Amino acid sequence: MLVLGLSNMRDAAAALVSDGRIVAAAEEERFVRQKHVTALPVHAIRYCLREAGVTLRDVEAIAVPWKYWLVGRRAWLALTAMVRSPQLFRVKGTRSLERVSREWKELFWLRRELTQRVDAVGHRPVFLDHHLCHAASSFLVSPFERSAILVVDGASEADTTLMAMGEGAQISVLDRTPLPHSLGQFYAAMTAFLGFRPDQDEYIVMGLAASGEPTFAAALRREIVRLLPQGRFELNTRLLDFHLARAGLYVQEFVRLFGPPRHSTDELTQRHRDLAASAQLVLEEVLLHLGRHLQSLIKVESLCLAGGVAYNCVANGRLRAELGFTQVYVPPAAGDSGTALGAALWWTARRGGSTARPQLPSAYLGPQFDEHVCRAALAREGLVAELLTDAQLYERVATELTRGRLVFWYQGRMEWGPRALGNRSLLADPRREDMRELINSKVKCREPFRPFAPSVLDERAQEFFDLPAASPFMQFTVRVKASAKGIIPAVTHVDGTARVQTVTREANPRFYELLATFGRLTGVPVLLNTSFNVQEPIVCSPDDAVRCFLRTQVEWLVLGNLLVRQPFQQTVPVHER
Ligand SMILES: [Fe+2]
Repeated sequence: MLVLGLSNMRDAAAALVSDGRIVAAAEEERFVRQKHVTALPVHAIRYCLREAGVTLRDVEAIAVPWKYWLVGRRAWLALTAMVRSPQLFRVKGTRSLERVSREWKELFWLRRELTQRVDAVGHRPVFLDHHLCHAASSFLVSPFERSAILVVDGASEADTTLMAMGEGAQISVLDRTPLPHSLGQFYAAMTAFLGFRPDQDEYIVMGLAASGEPTFAAALRREIVRLLPQGRFELNTRLLDFHLARAGLYVQEFVRLFGPPRHSTDELTQRHRDLAASAQLVLEEVLLHLGRHLQSLIKVESLCLAGGVAYNCVANGRLRAELGFTQVYVPPAAGDSGTALGAALWWTARRGGSTARPQLPSAYLGPQFDEHVCRAALAREGLVAELLTDAQLYERVATELTRGRLVFWYQGRMEWGPRALGNRSLLADPRREDMRELINSKVKCREPFRPFAPSVLDERAQEFFDLPAASPFMQFTVRVKASAKGIIPAVTHVDGTARVQTVTREANPRFYELLATFGRLTGVPVLLNTSFNVQEPIVCSPDDAVRCFLRTQVEWLVLGNLLVRQPFQQTVPVHER
C-alpha cells in the first residue's frame, strides 16, 4: 500500500510510505528556501514520488494531518482576540485571513490542486486528526511495542495536548486538553515578549534560559499558567494572549507584572534572561505534571513525545530523568512537518496496510545528489575541487579541523527534521573555547550566547556525557561530565549541559568515520556540529551548499568526496582572523 502524507500548513512537508516502509520525507522549506513555509508542498511531493519511482496515480491514499473543518474553536479564539484589539486586526487581520483561507481552500479542493500543480490524483484524500498524526509520527517508528504517548503543541484542530496509549499498531486516546489552554502558545507568547519570533525562535529562549534565574516563575504560576488536578492546566489568556503577543501587543497588567516587552534590536538584559529562565521552568513543570498524570493512567515504562514542544530538549531531558519512564523516544521531526509522515503511517496502520512497524534508525530521508551534480554546482561558481578517496577525505578533514578550520560537510541524503545530523552540517573543533563565539559572530550572524551541539561516537559518549541512552536525533539535553568540561568547552553550554547526537556506524558510516579519525588524532571523538545554513533553511542541493559556502568565511566545503577550499582563503584560520 502506497500512502503519501502531506501538510500544507506551517512547516509544510511530504512523506511517502510504501507497505509500511518509509521511502522518503522532506520539508518544503528546503526546496523553496523559505523557513517554516506554509504552502502546498509540491516540491517535497515531487521529490518523494521521484525517490520511489512512482506517480501520484500510483498512490493509493493521500493522508492529510488536519480535519480542517473542525477548526471552528481555533478560528473563534483568533477572531475574539481581533475583536478585543482593533490594533491586532490592523496588524495581522487581513494577512491572517488570507493565509487561512488559502490553506483551507487548498485542502477543500486538494484533489484538484494536486492535479493542477503536480499530477493527476488517483484517489480521494483522507483527513486525519492532527494530534493522532503527531502521536503516530513518534510511536509508530519508536522501538516500543507498548508505550505512553504525550503530544504537546500550539494547537491542533481544537486541542493543545493529547495523552494516548500505543500498542502494536494501535493508538488509543486517553485524554485531551482543549484550547485556549496551550503550553505551546504560552511559550511562543513569551518568545515574542522577549523580542524573538514566535513559533520559530523558541529554542533561542531555551538557550537563553540557562543564563538566567527563574525569578518570575512564581508570578507566572500565580497569574498565567496554573496547574489543575487530573493532569490539566489553565492558561490565563486575559493576561497573556498568544494572538496579541504574536503582533507585539500585551495588556497593561502583564507589562506591570513583567516589565516592558523587548524589541528584537534591544540589548538583552538580566531581566530578559530571568524571564526566559522562568518561562522555561514553568514549561518544564507543566510537562512533568502532564507526564505524571499519564503515568497514573497507564503503567508502562516507555514514553513517546511529539508536537512542537517536544523540540524543547531541556524539558525532554527532565522528563526522562525525573519520571519513572525508563525510555523516552522523540522522533527527528517532532513538530508539524512530522505530521505528514505521521498521517501516512497512521493511515497505513488503520487500513492494516502493513502489520510490520517501520523503523527509523536514522533521519536521512531527504534527497541526495550524484557527484556530477556537485561538480556542476561548483563549476557554475568557478570553484575547483579535489577528489579524494574516503580514507584521504577523513584524514584531511579531521586534520583541518584540528587546526581550527571550519568545514561545511555535505553528504548523502538530507536530514528529516530541523537538526543537522552529519549530512548537512558545519563542523568545528569542540576543544577550542573561542569556537562558539567565532561561529556565532562570523558565520551564523547570531547572538553570542547561542550554544552549539556536539556529535560523538556512540560507544565513547559515556566518557564525556551523563547519557542514559543513545541520542541519535539531538532531542535531549544532558550534563557534560565534570571531567570533560575543560576538554570540549565549545559544546558545553553555560549551565554545563549539551544537546548530544550519538553516532553509530550503522546510522551514518561516513560521519562515524570522520568522528573516529578526529578521535584518533586528538583523543576526543567529538565534533561541534551545527546546521549548514546562514539565516535560511538548511541547504538541500549542491547549489544551495555552494552559494551558502561563498557567503561565509568557512575555510572548507566537502561535497561527497570533493574537497573545495574557500577562494579568498589564504592560510589563516577563522579563529586567528
Ligand atoms: Fe501540531
